[in-house]
Order: sequence, then structure tokens, then C-alpha cells
Amino acid sequence: MNQIAQAAEAILRGELVGMPTETVYGLAANALMAEAVVRIFTAKGRPAFDPLIVHVADATQAWSIAYASPRAQLLANKLWPGPLTLVLPRRALVPDVVTSGLETVGVRCPDHPMALALIRAAGVPLAAPSANRFGRISPTTAEHVREQLGQEVSIVLDGGPCRVGIESTVLLPDPFPVVLRPGGVTREMLEKILGEPVAIADRDTKSAALPKQAPGLLPSHYAPQKILRLRQPGTPWPQDPTCGILAWHGDDIPQVNKYCERLSPKGDLAEAATHLFAALRRLDASHATHLIAEYVPANGLGLGINDRLMRAAGLG
Ligand code: TXA
Ligand code: MG
Repeated sequence: MNQIAQAAEAILRGELVGMPTETVYGLAANALMAEAVVRIFTAKGRPAFDPLIVHVADATQAWSIAYASPRAQLLANKLWPGPLTLVLPRRALVPDVVTSGLETVGVRCPDHPMALALIRAAGVPLAAPSANRFGRISPTTAEHVREQLGQEVSIVLDGGPCRVGIESTVLLPDPFPVVLRPGGVTREMLEKILGEPVAIADRDTKSAALPKQAPGLLPSHYAPQKILRLRQPGTPWPQDPTCGILAWHGDDIPQVNKYCERLSPKGDLAEAATHLFAALRRLDASHATHLIAEYVPANGLGLGINDRLMRAAGLG
């Protein structure tokens, strides 16, 4: 039996599977089986107030668990499969544990052939958070998943390194579009498709009546074990050989610093996103005693990268 079929059987038995997606690896379970979903929370050490994203093979399957709207249909049409999670009113068959009791459910169709094959083979939607222990750095290779959660999963499907590298954009499309978590689909792309402004939660949504950020987005998340500080571009790097550096392009890193990661030497935000979490892991495993990371330009994918950096530093 091939690996996808084995993984699908494990899913239907209520077990957990490590699943590659284009963003980060997920820890997948049958979204319609409450006791399987509970295992995700236990394995990750994740608090029950943090709702899960449900992964579907196509829009038709999405509308079987959530109610569509014109905006949701348009975005699903243009951007799925892809790194966009839509927060929509849920249908009654979605267990409470998936949504942390909310009346909405986050749904996305991942752009990865193995994820899509697994969802189709299992024949059920898959609840999957990122496959890391709660609060830790998200995994972008199968090896990262085995390191942190090897004991908890039946199978880790190896789909190679993740192409996008940061998580999906979480969007509440109605009554007007608000990004709850910046990620792999940019605000610029959303605005172009919808032909209207798209707000970013907490930054643009000033009134108490408007949606806040997604639940579960804590100030400390994606965190290395070492102390991480952040640096505005243009300010001096510390001349300290024990300090690990996470640089945007790295043209101005001092000679003394031995532990350096350059997210994109050519200054490309997509490349920087792809490398972000693996670079942070390497620095965390290095002999550097503390870390400093620099903000990237705050446009396009830079919004999602800076969001992860701030949470990794405990400043989210
Ligand atoms: O790219 C991704 O989205 C990855 C891959 C595996 O698909 N998944 C992921 O899941 O990042 P996770 O659990 O690490 O983050 C899910 C976040 C929650 O913390 C919450 O902020 C938001 O999505 N979310 C989920 N359901 C929601 C809902 N009903 N309302 C508001 N936010 C929701
Ligand atoms: Mg996560």
C-alpha cells in the first residue's frame, strides 16, 4: 500500500498524520471526528481556545462544512488551492472542538499535491494546525515535524521543503474583508481581486465594534529557545561574536559575527519567507548565545514575515 493510502487509513482510524502543505507542515486529523481533533490539542500542548483550520480538497468540499458568501466564492475561485484561509459561518457537522466553540470555521484548500491527495483519499476534511509544539517555530520540512512531534504521529508524509514558508493569510471576508493574520497571500492581491479595501485587524480596525485579530494569536509564538531581539534596518548591528544574526539581505553584517543567516541576499520577500523558519531554527541550534533579527520591508509578504518575527521575539 502506498504512503498516501496508509496515511488516509490512519486518519480514518482517528490518528494524526504529518502533512506537507505549501505554507508549513500541518498536524492533520479527521475534522469531523471530535476525539481525533482532541488528540491534536494534546499532542501540541495547544490551549483549547485556539481554533483549527480545516483543509479541503476543493471549494465544493468547503461549502459542505461552511456557508459561502459572494466574496468567499470569488476568493476561493481565484486563490485556491493556495495560502488563504477563509473564516466563514460553520455548518452543524463541524465539531465544537475544531472551532473552539466559535460559530465560524477557518477553511483552506492547500496548494500541495500530497495534501490534496491525502484529503481525497481519506474522503473527509482535515483539521490541521502547524505541526510544532505550541508557541514554537513552525516546521517547513518533514524532519522538523519528526523532531518535535515524531512520537505523536502515525506517519509524516515527506513533501520536501515548503515553498511559501509562512502560514496562510487568515481572512474574515464578511461583512467587510479583514485580515486576521497576515500570511502567504498579500493584502495587495486580495484588494485587487475584491476591488475594495481590505483592513488588517488591530492596525486598521480601531473601533471596538470591529473584528480583532484571530483568537490564538498570542504575543509570543513561533519562538526560538534563545532570547531574540529585533532591529530596525539602518541601525547598527551589535559587534558581538556571540550574537546570532537573522538578516534581511545581509549586506551590512559586521565581520565579527559568525552565526549569520541571510533571508534573501537579493532582497526578495518570497525567498525570505521561504527561508524564515528554517533559518531561525539553525540559529537556535547554533552556538550563538542570543539572537537579533531585522525587520523586512513592510509590504507584500513582508507583513507576514514581520508579524512572525515580532511574535518570535514575544512582541506580537
Ligand atoms: O498555513 C497554514 O494556515 C497552516 C497550514 C498547516 O495549513 N496552518 C496553521 O494553523 O497555521 P495554526 O493552527 O497554526 O493557526 C490557525 C490560526 C488560529 O490560531 C487562529 O488564529 C486562526 O487560524 N483561526 C482558525 N479558525 C478561526 C476562526 N474560526 N476565527 C478566527 N480565526 C481562526
Ligand atoms: Mg501555528
